[in-house]
Amino acid sequence: MQQQSRTISTNQTGIHQNLHKVVTRQLASVSQKPLSEHTEQAYQEAINWLGDWKGELILDSCCGVGESTVNIAQAHPNARVIGIDKSALRTDKHQAYASTLQNYLVLRADLNDFLRLLVLNKRKLTKHYLLYPNPYPKSAHLQRRWYATSALKDMVNLGGILEVRSNWQLYIQEFSAALAIANINSQCAIYENDQPITPFERKYWQSGQSSWQLLANL
Ligand SMILES: C[S@@+](CC[C@H](N)C(=O)[O-])C[C@H]1O[C@@H](n2cnc3c(N)ncnc32)[C@H](O)[C@@H]1O
Repeated sequence: MQQQSRTISTNQTGIHQNLHKVVTRQLASVSQKPLSEHTEQAYQEAINWLGDWKGELILDSCCGVGESTVNIAQAHPNARVIGIDKSALRTDKHQAYASTLQNYLVLRADLNDFLRLLVLNKRKLTKHYLLYPNPYPKSAHLQRRWYATSALKDMVNLGGILEVRSNWQLYIQEFSAALAIANINSQCAIYENDQPITPFERKYWQSGQSSWQLLANL
């Protein structure tokens, strides 16, 4: 059965007026929040799985059920790919999407803490996917969008090519504006492909919605 998805509805008419202020503050902040125990455990699991791996490392952030993680692993056979999602409900469903590929791992963890742990341990990424993050389109919810949180600084520190996709063009435009505040250039464009690689991408395309993509060399 085809799942329909409603288009984004927002009370914003353009880039949020507080974006510059919030992003500047977040880039200068140091998170003091204690790390969650379950994410520390997931991080350790990832480290054990990586062993002495020194090759390409790709993160699939907010991977949901991990369908994209499998697709990314397939497209990058020489890389190790880690998919992270905070929802056990979603990661527990990964079995239905699982593959026999050995170069990927899907973990339940909080992304904020997982990124902090990678940075604290001086890990670097070659690629970082953030596919269809929750958009939080209400103006009042700016500070829930990834680029307006302290995670932006960690994403920048982790390096690599960042690829973000969203069905909300303004999310991509604001992400680009946030990166520019960190002196990072990005390219934004409409994104089309024959094959969707995530359940949300499939749902949006089946509903006639377009995807927008941001690419940045961090
Ligand atoms: C709209 S869904 C997209 C899932 C998947 N990327 C896709 O395209 O099908 C957004 C996902 O972000 C995850 N998420 C939100 N906040 C998170 C956090 N702090 N840490 C890890 N995952 C998070 C949610 O659990 C959810 O699975």
